Amino acid sequence: MSNRILIYGSYGYTGRLVTEQAVADGLDPIVAGRTAAKVERQAVEYGLDHRVFSLTSPQVVAEALEDVSVVLNCAGPFAETSGPLVDACLETGTHYLDITGEIEVFETIAARDEEAENAGVTLLPGVGFDVVPTDSLAAHLADRLPDATHLSLGFQGLDEMSPGTAHTAVDSLGEGGSVRRDGTIRQVPVAHDVRTIDFGDGPTTAAAIPWGDVSTAYYTTGIPNVTVYIAQPERAVQFMRLSNELGWLLGTRPVKSVLHGLVDRFVDGPDKTARAEATTYVWGSASNGDETVVSRMRTPESYEFTAQSALHLVERVRDGDAPTGFQTPAGAFGKDVALAVDGVERTDE
Ligand SMILES: NC(=O)c1ccc[n+]([C@@H]2O[C@H](COP(=O)([O-])OP(=O)(O)OC[C@H]3O[C@@H](n4cnc5c(N)ncnc54)[C@H](OP(=O)(O)O)[C@@H]3O)[C@@H](O)[C@H]2O)c1
Repeated sequence: MSNRILIYGSYGYTGRLVTEQAVADGLDPIVAGRTAAKVERQAVEYGLDHRVFSLTSPQVVAEALEDVSVVLNCAGPFAETSGPLVDACLETGTHYLDITGEIEVFETIAARDEEAENAGVTLLPGVGFDVVPTDSLAAHLADRLPDATHLSLGFQGLDEMSPGTAHTAVDSLGEGGSVRRDGTIRQVPVAHDVRTIDFGDGPTTAAAIPWGDVSTAYYTTGIPNVTVYIAQPERAVQFMRLSNELGWLLGTRPVKSVLHGLVDRFVDGPDKTARAEATTYVWGSASNGDETVVSRMRTPESYEFTAQSALHLVERVRDGDAPTGFQTPAGAFGKDVALAVDGVERTDE
């Protein structure tokens, strides 16, 4: 097996950032995706090897990965793309990483742990902003309070979405929220809990959302009760709650189709200046009923963080630093995993 890295979905918004960073880091990745014109243009622009393949034929996907050490999947929605790539990776002995934040995707990949162990393959979904900083903070809080039974995590500063993030959000409309209770993922209404959180700049309103850590934090820490919050203005929280009432409508195909069309027309993702100027704040609290510990993190803008973090973990997996089987970022690399990204700071209250 070579030590080559293949970036699938390399020409999407996030894939492009990852590819640019990989080239700057001298990683010489293979760029790949299903649309020939887009892959070829990017390959020529950066002088990289490329592969064009869709994910419909298992044989074609496996052939494309035969000599690849690590795949980084940047093509979302990952509910559609992760299955075929994981299947192929298990067949070819290729390590699989992606930047998903989708709870069902984490759970589906986690269920393949034994297969991955047997194949000597690492399956490491969630190497972007969702879930590296929060997973890292969860592990840190569990370390500070080893008998914690309740974990709350939150973040502030995701102001602008990329097209793929917006499409994934549209796909999840009408599905409600999720939390982990007594070790089991439970369905709840969106924004079923609204609270005040101090992310480091004074108290602000935050609402519960079905973020990836509802799945991953349990694997990393064993804490059986997990809720994740996003800072939102009151008006946005009211809209989130309204979406519970309108779930039957928002979840229908015609409405989603209109919303996907609006995303295609109007969502470009944050530009270079916006990415350079923004900061993201992460907060976490662990409690055992008697005692509560709180820690915070500041990170670069979320897409900048994603590009750096994903490549850092790709390199560590390629270099043989990760255990095989299903892994979470902090489960594989410890509680300081997010601190490897330039500009990340963690503080304890
Ligand atoms: N975890 C995190 O922190 C984080 C950060 C950033 C993004 N994301 C997620 O990453 C995903 C991509 O976001 P983005 O804004 O970069 O998206 P984007 O600009 O819309 O690009 C999507 C990419 O995925 C490819 N793709 C989509 N469906 C596919 C399929 N069925 N088979 C093969 N390729 C497929 C597209 O290829 P074509 O153009 O050929 O269709 C394109 O390359 C989203 O799900 C987003 O939520 C997560």
